[in-house]
Amino acid sequence: MMKGKRKITMVTAYDYPTALLADKAGIDIILVGDTCSMVVLGYDSTLPITMDEMIYHCKAVKRGVKHALIVGDMPFMSFNVSKEDTIRNAGRFIKEGGCDAVKLEGGIIIKDTIKAIVDAGIPVMGHVGLAPQTATFLSGYRVKGKEAIEAMKIIKDAKAIEASGAFSIILESLTSEVARIITHELSIPTIGIGAGPDCDGQVLVLHDLLGLFDKFTPKFVKRYANLSEEIFKALETYKDEVQKGIFPDDQHSYHMDKAEFDKLQKKLKGNVK
Ligand code: KIV
Repeated sequence: MMKGKRKITMVTAYDYPTALLADKAGIDIILVGDTCSMVVLGYDSTLPITMDEMIYHCKAVKRGVKHALIVGDMPFMSFNVSKEDTIRNAGRFIKEGGCDAVKLEGGIIIKDTIKAIVDAGIPVMGHVGLAPQTATFLSGYRVKGKEAIEAMKIIKDAKAIEASGAFSIILESLTSEVARIITHELSIPTIGIGAGPDCDGQVLVLHDLLGLFDKFTPKFVKRYANLSEEIFKALETYKDEVQKGIFPDDQHSYHMDKAEFDKLQKKLKGNVK
């Protein structure tokens, strides 16, 4: 157990090349997040992504990972219909997707759901605070835990998730004060995203930290690169060079041996087949 020993590092990844890089960089946990819906598939929210699409992305991530723990994010409505359906879907992340664990969004209301998945032998990561899957029609996209009443509710949510058997919990968009209390109260590690510096670990959405998604950028996102700009520059230069005949040059072209080329020319002149 890493809690209290060193900070846990976690990022999202959705495909083979980025999973390979995250694993090589020594990131502890790779989350195949349902944010895939927005940052990869271009939807406006995390709701449309399906189980089949999540499994497809998990498989690609699995091929790039040797060391990191892979967590599959259970998408909207994959754990809300029935216990059987939930366990079947959680099992698909492990059996088909190659994940080591699943993550579910929600507080005390999903405690029995988490227990059922854990009882089926599947490790579960919880997720409280801001819950993007239900944000539009329940509590909204605002920072959580600013008022004492709401803070108490979130602390109770986190305790219920731990009691259900989760091995770890994400705290999203939560005041640092509440995240610190939860981290102190729980024996399982807390992993923060917009929840201040006192969590046991931190997670960011890969496309946010790499500067590959700029529809909106929450205050808690730190950009460690500006890949959108880099990629755009590269594509413009490529277009220019092709249009001007600069690319491909000799260095990027294949050639025949001179003798073979002479033979070919003779054949062409003599019209020999
Ligand atoms: O889907 C996701 O990327 C997440 C992170 C925001 C933790 O749940």
